[in-house]
Amino acid sequence: MDMTTARNQPQHAPAELLAEACTFLASAELRGTSAARLATVREEITHTGTYAHTADELTWGARIAWRNATSCLGRAYWRALEVRDRREVTTVDELAEACVEHLRVATNGGRVRLTITVGPAADAGQALRVLNHQLVGYAGHLQADGSVVGDPKSVWLTQLVRSLGWSGTGGRFDVLPLVIQRAPGERPWWYRLPRDVVMEVPLSHPDLPWFEALGLRWYAHPAISHQRLRIGGVDYPAAPFSGWYTATEISAENLARRYSVLPEIAQRMGLDTTSTRTLWLDRALVELTTAVLHSYQRHGVIVVDHHHAAKSFSTHENSELAAGRPVYGRYSSLVAPTAAATTDVYYRSYRNRVVVPNFFPPAPIDLDPDAANGALR
Ligand code: ARG
Repeated sequence: MDMTTARNQPQHAPAELLAEACTFLASAELRGTSAARLATVREEITHTGTYAHTADELTWGARIAWRNATSCLGRAYWRALEVRDRREVTTVDELAEACVEHLRVATNGGRVRLTITVGPAADAGQALRVLNHQLVGYAGHLQADGSVVGDPKSVWLTQLVRSLGWSGTGGRFDVLPLVIQRAPGERPWWYRLPRDVVMEVPLSHPDLPWFEALGLRWYAHPAISHQRLRIGGVDYPAAPFSGWYTATEISAENLARRYSVLPEIAQRMGLDTTSTRTLWLDRALVELTTAVLHSYQRHGVIVVDHHHAAKSFSTHENSELAAGRPVYGRYSSLVAPTAAATTDVYYRSYRNRVVVPNFFPPAPIDLDPDAANGALR
């Protein structure tokens, strides 16, 4: 056995990996992994430092990872996650193609499918991954006066791709290219997304005719692409995950907080913005959320309201407890950002315990300083 090639380098101490693998393989969802399979895994780990999941193990591993994701309110649907196995991918081009295909399948014309695409497992010296936070996202163009046109969350990535030769429209809803890196320290590559896989929804309001002219929009669904999926001791650094939106993520967190659109909406509504006591922020935000729900429905894109989302989570909690599984959670991510106290989640408390399989933050981005003009250093 040649232990010098990158593929064969162990990523974790074998004993640790074996322990995590065995715990995972004993999951009830795998309906009792056979003794023969356990022996094969043990053998594989001893000889190669890692092991390959079967298709069934990958599918259930990804679903259990979702069930364990403490910051997700949509976990009631964990069993329905469709898992696309793209572990055969080896190059940046192939991963870019798999991401485009993921968007096509998951967006599904607005009937968003709960989908994860799993790329190759991490190996020493190689960790093919997507640097974007989500497959579709808007650029943040930093202006000379320090203000940002677009999404302030994306300023760093926008600067990186510009240093690599990308230029966008410079506008507020300027779709970023995919940015993919093969290994830490290497030059990342960028890929413009084909327009037909980027579905967006222009926002209008059911009763406020002027709303449409604000020119606000958002993309149809989030495809979280920066997280590392870990199943049974094996890390998958590229595993884009799509679900549908809760409207308040777009209205309260993205457009109100990051895009600062509430003053303009309040002004168009004729509200007195000189004192917070007029509740102009609350009233403008309710209309913005109304516009999101209305517009997504009008364009045939699945979106849920925060009351519905909180209810489905409470139901999920009860069925998990009935199945003998504790439900861990990160309160600040679960509680609704508007009208929190009208939902049950507000009155509960959660232990934020992270168990595996799960999704983890990505390793810090390490770039070749020359290739990226030092954008991140
Ligand atoms: N909050 C993030 C955003 O607005 C998306 C996080 C995942 N949300 C979801 N509904 N699957 O872009």
